[in-house]
Amino acid sequence: MPDLDRRPRRTFAVISHPDAGKSTLTEALVLHAQVIAEAGAVHGKAGRKGTVSDWMAMERSRGISISSTALQFAYRDHVVNLVDTPGHADFSEDTYRVLSAVDSAVMLVDAAKGLEPQTLKLFRVCARRGLPVITVINKWDRPGRDALELMDEIESQIGLRPTPLTWPVGVPGDFHGVLDRRTGGFVRYTRTAGGATRAPEEHLTAEAALAAAGEDWERASEEAELLTADGGDHDQSTFLAGRTTPVLFASALLNFGVAQLLDTLLELAPAPGPTPLAAGGAREVDADFSAYVFKVQAGMDANHRDRLAYARVCSGVFERGMVVTHAATGKPFATKYAHTVFGKERSSVETASPGDIVGLVNANALRVGDTIYDGVPAEFPEIESFAPEHFVSARVIDAGRYKRFRRGIEQLDQEGVVQVLRSELRGDQAPVLAAVGPMQFEVVAARMETEFHAPIRMDNLAYSLALHTTPEHAGTISGFSGVEVMTRSDGTVLALFPDKWKADSVRRQAPGVVLEALPVGG
Ligand code: G4P
Repeated sequence: MPDLDRRPRRTFAVISHPDAGKSTLTEALVLHAQVIAEAGAVHGKAGRKGTVSDWMAMERSRGISISSTALQFAYRDHVVNLVDTPGHADFSEDTYRVLSAVDSAVMLVDAAKGLEPQTLKLFRVCARRGLPVITVINKWDRPGRDALELMDEIESQIGLRPTPLTWPVGVPGDFHGVLDRRTGGFVRYTRTAGGATRAPEEHLTAEAALAAAGEDWERASEEAELLTADGGDHDQSTFLAGRTTPVLFASALLNFGVAQLLDTLLELAPAPGPTPLAAGGAREVDADFSAYVFKVQAGMDANHRDRLAYARVCSGVFERGMVVTHAATGKPFATKYAHTVFGKERSSVETASPGDIVGLVNANALRVGDTIYDGVPAEFPEIESFAPEHFVSARVIDAGRYKRFRRGIEQLDQEGVVQVLRSELRGDQAPVLAAVGPMQFEVVAARMETEFHAPIRMDNLAYSLALHTTPEHAGTISGFSGVEVMTRSDGTVLALFPDKWKADSVRRQAPGVVLEALPVGG
């Protein structure tokens, strides 16, 4: 039996608006962890931006697995799993699902821009899931907004009380470091000539800080006291309850604040805990093995033409080769080929613990939201589907390829790339595809062409709102002009409206009908 890695886990995701610095921060986190892992960190690469070759070398030498889905690395005496959220500007359901696989989130905010639309949307999902959120104000090395103003914005826009752990010394663009509010000391940022060879942080006492940073230090100290007077000190229970957020100030690019973030994750972020079960109760982490699938992907690489399911281990120990049960069908599922890396180079995973992410190959039966388990049965609740806001009707261009079209649409539906809606009226030839963000359609079009060899034509439909209804009311609702009722592949009956005013008008004219908002709007 392979050795089990018993080190404690931290599993988190970074949520941010594009360009806030997520990739830069991710690289800095891994590189810093790597520097710490190496004896004699003085010659480390802490200040330098990682390159692809750094990553490859790291992966080989340290067994750090790097993939588009989950990145695992050791930091101090912990194992850290950083689950990636899709990076594109458009918003899709993938991100929501990823957030069901983590125990906490790091909200990355650009100091000059403050809270941006995608950050807000993602934050709402975190709030809904009760995920504790650590906030990092990034790009403090260049001109940006006032720190107190940014704190006000977080509190007023998302109702989360900021409890800064550090406070900037010097304004954005001319900052000297941060005041560590828990020790009262100064973490000084030292800009080095090459920027590449030395860790840029230096720890000073308050007295030394006054001598070093003068007025800036005094102002930071005053503001830090103001925060205390205003109830802005960290409190572990309100943080875990999702009511307050510890805040750090950083420059991912200059590697400043990166060590503090890793230490904060270890110290404050929750470890994997019991997972609620669909039937009530919860699966404890030390129970028999169980995991749930939060992402399914296919066709990433022509050499690996199979379907990959990414599962988060919820309880017990995963061992490669074990035969588990697929809760939805009751059938056995062999895990002979389980991987930690899902890019071109895959490496096998031997064991995995709660909080870890495993990639399962040949997972054709597994769908997003499915549970697999060993021993005592478990079934986790379905991951919610989200309220689509964009709708197209899709058909195959070459009618001779209809079979491939049908297979492709079914596959993409199961992967959760888009939602597929059908009705008798439209027939099977022209299903409606529904998405939270329009980029999901581009993915469908590209994959239908390259993977299923069934190019499609998509026509925009003038709907922007889907409400849940019941089969009994379908007839009444579809009697209104400009409104259509369709069934999603999970059986949910949806009424499609051009806008909310039309829905209100239907409600007024047919007061008894069920028209309910879907779980989460985009
Ligand atoms: P993303 O993944 O969130 O989309 O952001 P990414 O890391 O790609 O960063 C977006 C841009 O912001 C990059 O600049 C990056 O260098 C810059 N950036 C990230 N963190 C910091 C920071 O702490 N300070 C400063 N000043 N800039 C930061 P770019 O010009 O778009 O790309 P590049 O040419 O630098 O790679």
